[in-house]
Order: sequence, then structure tokens, then C-alpha cells
Amino acid sequence: MNILFVCLGNICRSPLAEAIAKHYVSKFGLVASIDSAGTSGWHNGETPCEGSILVAKKHHIDISGFRSRKVSVYEDSVFDIIVAMDQANVRDLLEMGFDRSKIRKLGEFGLENADVPDPYHYKNNEGFECVYNMIEKGVKHLIQQYFKVSVE
Ligand code: 4NP
Repeated sequence: MNILFVCLGNICRSPLAEAIAKHYVSKFGLVASIDSAGTSGWHNGETPCEGSILVAKKHHIDISGFRSRKVSVYEDSVFDIIVAMDQANVRDLLEMGFDRSKIRKLGEFGLENADVPDPYHYKNNEGFECVYNMIEKGVKHLIQQYFKVSVE
């Protein structure tokens, strides 16, 4: 099972989703390939935003070596599901030509279909903790649903 997490910049939300999912894949010995990318390409080659690096570190996950990249429609054939962080990401993926049947939103997984907000909308670093908790909950539910394991 190949899973791609997508947000706008690939510097705040989707790198966290990738790292958390990889943590569970490793913990449960799952056969899965996990990646992330952004719809914009505005931050190509950049490390994640400081807030995401710090909140991940607090949860014992190191994302400092991660680099941002733009998603390509050719990846439609590589990934089984493409998991967007918000509805704007879904719209952008559809506009790029991704197969609608492969696109999910993280909010579908235990988050009452909520968008995972861009943490830039928050005025302080509490936003990153809130976004981290949403992403962790969504990723846990997604892993449980697709891999039939009990994640706790
Ligand atoms: P992300 O957050 O999509 O979670 O990586 C953002 C990062 C950068 C920008 C917007 C959202 N930006 O406008 O540059």
C-alpha cells in the first residue's frame, strides 16, 4: 500500500503526516510506502517550518532532514491513496488531473471530515500542537482502517 500525504506547501502539515505514518508503519512492521508532497512547489527543497520541526521533536519524531517537493500528476499511478489535508488541496489535486477515486481527505479518518488547518493561520505555536494532534488522530484512524491493526 502506497500512501501520499498532500498539503499546500509541504513544509508544515504533510511532513508531519508522513513522519507519523512512517512511525506506525515501522512500529507495526506494515508493508507500506509513505511519502508527502505539496500542491504549490513554493517551498521546493526547503526544510519543514520551525513550528512543525519543534512539535515533532516534542513527540520524539525528527523531521529536520525532510525536504519539500511539489506533487506530480504522474504519481497518480504510484500511490494507492492520496490524502489531502484540506478541501483546497482536494480541489487542486482534481484540477491537476488526479483520479478522484484515489483522493481522500485526512478529516475522513476520525476527524468528522474537518480540514486540517494551515498552522500559519494561528498566531502562536499552540497551533502546531493542535494541528499535530489532529494529524496524529487522523493517521491513526487511517492506519487502523487500511491495515486492520489496533493503533494505541
Ligand atoms: P503547509 O503550510 O501547506 O501545511 O505546508 C503552508 C506552508 C506555506 C504556505 C502556506 C501553507 N505559503 O503560503 O507559503
